[in-house]
Amino acid sequence: MRILVTGAAGFIGSHTALALLTAGHEVVSFDNYSNSSQESLARVEKLAGESLERVDGDLRDFSALESLLKSGSFDVVVHFAGLKAVGESVEKPLLYYENNVSGTINLLRAMQLAACRKLVFSSSATVYGEVEMNPILESFPLSAVNPYGATKLMIEDICRDLAKSEAGWNIALLRYFNPVGAHESGEIGEDPIGIPNNLMPFVMQTAVGRHKQVNIYGNDYPTPDGTGVRDYIHVVDLANAHSRAVEKIDSFAGAEAVNLGTGQGSSVFELLAAASKAVGTEIPHSIAARRPGDAAAVWADAELAKKKLGWTAERDLDAMCRDHWRWQSKNPNGFRTESEC
Ligand code: WQD
Repeated sequence: MRILVTGAAGFIGSHTALALLTAGHEVVSFDNYSNSSQESLARVEKLAGESLERVDGDLRDFSALESLLKSGSFDVVVHFAGLKAVGESVEKPLLYYENNVSGTINLLRAMQLAACRKLVFSSSATVYGEVEMNPILESFPLSAVNPYGATKLMIEDICRDLAKSEAGWNIALLRYFNPVGAHESGEIGEDPIGIPNNLMPFVMQTAVGRHKQVNIYGNDYPTPDGTGVRDYIHVVDLANAHSRAVEKIDSFAGAEAVNLGTGQGSSVFELLAAASKAVGTEIPHSIAARRPGDAAAVWADAELAKKKLGWTAERDLDAMCRDHWRWQSKNPNGFRTESEC
């Protein structure tokens, strides 16, 4: 099939583009490289041994999207493009609403005009808001605790309303838990701009010497070892789930949400131990105050993904750390060359 992948140059987008090319699909990338590098697409093509079409564009440019969808004859759209830093969304909410929500409305309108009504959307576990109980089921109440999460929830609601208003839409809302790891080649991986908020990239950047130590945000949570527990999922497992969702998109009647997680929780200490094993040395860390807004524990019920997609995560925390470390040690500055740092 011919697939449009918005945000294909990004962390999950590049791994999914590789999975789709490897599965024999045609891939067209639509990206403004605001938080990614064209280099990742070049490496995806090398790994796949296939080429992909690149369209440099911005979701806020409706006419560009309209002509792309009209002429593109796409079978399915996989939509990753969007801003995703929780902290930045609190400082710049308008930027997030304009880019993520208005941008997605542009995409959906362009799809509607081109009668392309099959969409796989990059949603997030953040739509569950304050987590009271685990494992989390797709039927749990939804709420937003920050503007980034609000954009994901709004986009899900827009997709549900659109699918109710007009027959023929097949929309998979894939709710990721904590994506980490990298392709086993070490050629593509997570390359956050600035100081990463997320644990794994910060741990691995500390391991290559870019930070002095990892600050553990609280060890007094009601969890087995006192540190925060999350459902980390390998980005290659996540990419394979997207490839499955593309294959099975017709089974999504209207807009349906599916959790993408392992169904297992791991603590900060457990991740640090697995990372130290992968790196081969102890990673310097110290206990710091809790981070406002953090939940004690969040992990997925992964049964629906098994039923709907015939997919379960295969890679464990050790594999996630081994693969993430191979990427980080081969690319200490991500996709940027020495001179660009
Ligand atoms: C994980 C654990 C922290 C950093 C975020 C987004 C969410 C989603 C996934 C996109 C927590 C602890 C972290 C550090 C630490 N992204 N931690 N020291 O907060 O679960 O979710 O990423 O959809 O929207 O909110 O991930 O990696 O930031 O934190 O101790 O330097 O690691 O307290 O327990 P989080 P995270």
